[in-house]
Amino acid sequence: MEIIKTVEDLVARREELEGVYQTIGFVPTMGALHKGHISLVEKSVKESDYTIVSVFVNPKQFNEQSDFDNYPVNYSSDLKLLEYSGCDMVFMPKSDDIYSDYDGFEIDFGGLDKVYEGEFRPGHFQGVVDVVYRLFDLVKPQKSYFGQKDFQQLAIIKRLVSEANLKIEIVSCPIVREDSGLAMSSRNERLSNENRLVASEIYREMQVVATEMKIGDSTSLFAERFNSRMEKIDVMKPEYCIFCHPDSLQKIKKVEKNTVLVMCVAVLCTNVRLIDNIILVF
Ligand code: PAJ
Repeated sequence: MEIIKTVEDLVARREELEGVYQTIGFVPTMGALHKGHISLVEKSVKESDYTIVSVFVNPKQFNEQSDFDNYPVNYSSDLKLLEYSGCDMVFMPKSDDIYSDYDGFEIDFGGLDKVYEGEFRPGHFQGVVDVVYRLFDLVKPQKSYFGQKDFQQLAIIKRLVSEANLKIEIVSCPIVREDSGLAMSSRNERLSNENRLVASEIYREMQVVATEMKIGDSTSLFAERFNSRMEKIDVMKPEYCIFCHPDSLQKIKKVEKNTVLVMCVAVLCTNVRLIDNIILVF
């Protein structure tokens, strides 16, 4: 597995790869890798001729300095996991190298960046678009893999690709969960063992909704119930629970026949912000 640390080296190496491999698969990450990330890498390895993974904690997408400062870093474990998963190249740039002669990339988000996560994390999605556009430009992949775990991010990346007219196929990958049902996240490391178990209530409660919600139901009742169940647990504080269209992210008020909707939630467990979602098909 090649390890590339500078933009200059990546550009040079990428030129050498041109024409040698037909499909370059790319998985952008912020490191502190777990099985969720690795599932994306394994899918790319299976479907692409050459897989590049970036490990870069992007300062621009953190709206709180303390979140950035506390973001877990574990390069040696990341490299071991990547090597084992069949990744061909890891790109680990420094922030100055990414942003020294690049200010960012503007798109019309069509409002996708203002709702849900965007409301609670102003500027976050602009930061994501800035770094992903830059990485796409450097890596020039044919396919890029993103987790459904960050559902709104996935919708925004699809929008970036269409707005910027990029010829990159965005592959959406299912959420990988811990045995308890808690969606895997680098942030779970910041939970105590006890709270990690408590946090699995999020998915359990979402499953209750998935079994009980029927055509004709009003979604707001389920949202209220989810929020009040979370509030009853001492360490939990719900931020939002919404039911929306998978692409437009428009809120859906009533469950209609032959529709797909996504239940997206954000909950604070002590000071750790956890997000999760499930797709509901009617
Ligand atoms: P990061 O949080 O490291 O996630 C990298 C990728 O792994 C994202 O596409 C995310 O959705 C996916 N992922 C995380 N947890 C997952 C899980 N439990 N199951 C499946 N996929 C999971 O998302 C980012 O980094 C950044 O915003 C990035 C796109 C790299 C831009 O900086």
